[in-house]
Amino acid sequence: MKPELRSGLRSKLRAENLSVRYDADNEGCALRGVTFSIRDGERAALLGANGAGKSTLLMTLVGVLHPESGEVILDDAATTKETLRYLRSKVGVAFQNPDDQLFMPSLYEDIAFGPRNYGLPEPEVESRVSAALSRLGISHLRERMTHRLSGGEKRLAALAGILVMEPSVLLMDEPTSFLDGRSRRRLIEILSGLPQAMIIATHDIDLASKLCERVILLQNGQIRADGDAETILSDAAMLDACGL
Ligand SMILES: Nc1ncnc2c1ncn2[C@@H]1O[C@H](COP(=O)(O)OP(=O)(O)OP(=O)(O)O)[C@@H](O)[C@H]1O
Ligand SMILES: [Mg+2]
Repeated sequence: MKPELRSGLRSKLRAENLSVRYDADNEGCALRGVTFSIRDGERAALLGANGAGKSTLLMTLVGVLHPESGEVILDDAATTKETLRYLRSKVGVAFQNPDDQLFMPSLYEDIAFGPRNYGLPEPEVESRVSAALSRLGISHLRERMTHRLSGGEKRLAALAGILVMEPSVLLMDEPTSFLDGRSRRRLIEILSGLPQAMIIATHDIDLASKLCERVILLQNGQIRADGDAETILSDAAMLDACGL
């Protein structure tokens, strides 16, 4: 993509010492002191065993969960209640369960919801929705009822609902779950052609190595390793210690 087209998609997202606890009575923290930044256009795989805190981290980065301490910093400004709307316009998230994301009756209505909510004129909405559907290869599903789509179709629909907003950072939670081989390969191809920075929580090590230059490895709510994907993914002892 041309640099001038990429420039509108620039954002720096930073987690500063994030700690998250679901339940005040609970001793354990789901996240403890998590700090990292994601650079312009960088793609990071977020790895860790079940319960390591991957989904918690993504939901905290987009302001769905509130940290007990620490901050989410976007473009050098700490996120507050007042700036949450701005954060959500810049940072798109695909939840682990696509059913949590799709709520309008038809697929078209669902994907059009975000751009309409931001007050875009209807012809712009229409062209953005068509482009997002086509990009994900699901144009034929546009009039379908969302609750009657298959798991994989819902996954692609949820991703279309994010891309349509043209965010500068994409957060994805298990984007390849429910996908068949062909849809999975297609998704990896699509993501590798996108200019946005991405954080991808996944158990799909093959996707991580194909798509991401960086790996952030979580263990019990803390960052165990953060760095070059090739180095971390070839460290069998560490992956094993983290339950992967
Ligand atoms: N709604 C909740 N209420 C209480 N505890 C929760 C809740 N959601 C998650 N947890 C706990 O927080 C910790 C982190 O969970 P999280 O869902 O972030 O893990 P994960 O790395 O995404 O796991 P998975 O690979 O299974 O998706 C776990 O111990 C989990 O049991
Ligand atoms: Mg999860």
